[in-house]
Amino acid sequence: MKDEKEHSVVPCASLQPASYGERLCSLKPDPVSRVVESLRSSVKYRYLCEATLTRMARWALERHASPKDAAKAAKSKLHQVYGAYMEPGTCERVARGVAALPEEELRVVCRRIMESHASTRERLADLEEIGLALADLVKPQGPVLDLACGLNPFALPWMNLSPELSYYAWDIDARLIGHIDTFLAGIGCPGEAVCRDVLAEPPDVEADVVLLLKALPCLEQQEAGASLRLLRGLSARVVVVSFPSRSLGGRGKGMADHYGAFMQGICGALDIEARILMWPSETFYILQR
Ligand SMILES: C[S@@+](CC[C@H](N)C(=O)[O-])C[C@H]1O[C@@H](n2cnc3c(N)ncnc32)[C@H](O)[C@@H]1O
Repeated sequence: MKDEKEHSVVPCASLQPASYGERLCSLKPDPVSRVVESLRSSVKYRYLCEATLTRMARWALERHASPKDAAKAAKSKLHQVYGAYMEPGTCERVARGVAALPEEELRVVCRRIMESHASTRERLADLEEIGLALADLVKPQGPVLDLACGLNPFALPWMNLSPELSYYAWDIDARLIGHIDTFLAGIGCPGEAVCRDVLAEPPDVEADVVLLLKALPCLEQQEAGASLRLLRGLSARVVVVSFPSRSLGGRGKGMADHYGAFMQGICGALDIEARILMWPSETFYILQR
């Protein structure tokens, strides 16, 4: 008799309301999954890598109890660190540009593609000079790792890299990364583009040169102190860091001084010297061990 009782199925009607409620709750997705789901269902953020969405969901839930408010805050943060750089149609233009490569002049197509991203667009006027100056000062001798790359891989024709050098590009938008990977294969560049969140999964690959172009402000907006932590973990011979001279809205006042002071702190903490290259739109810091 005892055994029978232990194995009997409890009919729903005999459950206390509280335990019934608990059972219902346990079928609901947890708050992090609910926020991730909401981000996934948005047109703008559905292609971002899982680790980024999960990290943003956790960040937002620490600040907002309700998943709805947290999803709103996460979207706003994602806009700040990713969406603000991408105009509607960017990916489609990239796809068309990559598909048209065999017919068109490589540099013309790449310039057109880079026009679609706020960050590379600002660099276009000085691309030739920047490419020559960096190649001369950095002299890459092994793999180049471009972190939070945006559309910078399309600047490869100006980077003056030896054709045998591998080039790896990481960013958080899987769709964009797919097009960049097709581009790398199309121009015969060894290496690959990878959808990877550098805060969730910091670099663990050996590179001679690491590029962090206009990336640190974006990473700091997500995690204070991220820049120093990331730089400390890199074993590359040279790290090239850059900062914009003005904000996306066009305000420039004090930005160079602000980032100059920020880099002074970073170099002090790393006990490293930096060489500085300045253009009207961007300032580069070359950190060499
Ligand atoms: C200001 S843009 C710079 C793009 C590119 N490096 C350049 O200079 O043209 C910042 C880039 O960081 C990427 N990003 C933001 N958070 C990231 C993260 N946690 N991991 C990897 N990439 C990230 C964004 O998607 C965006 O492409």
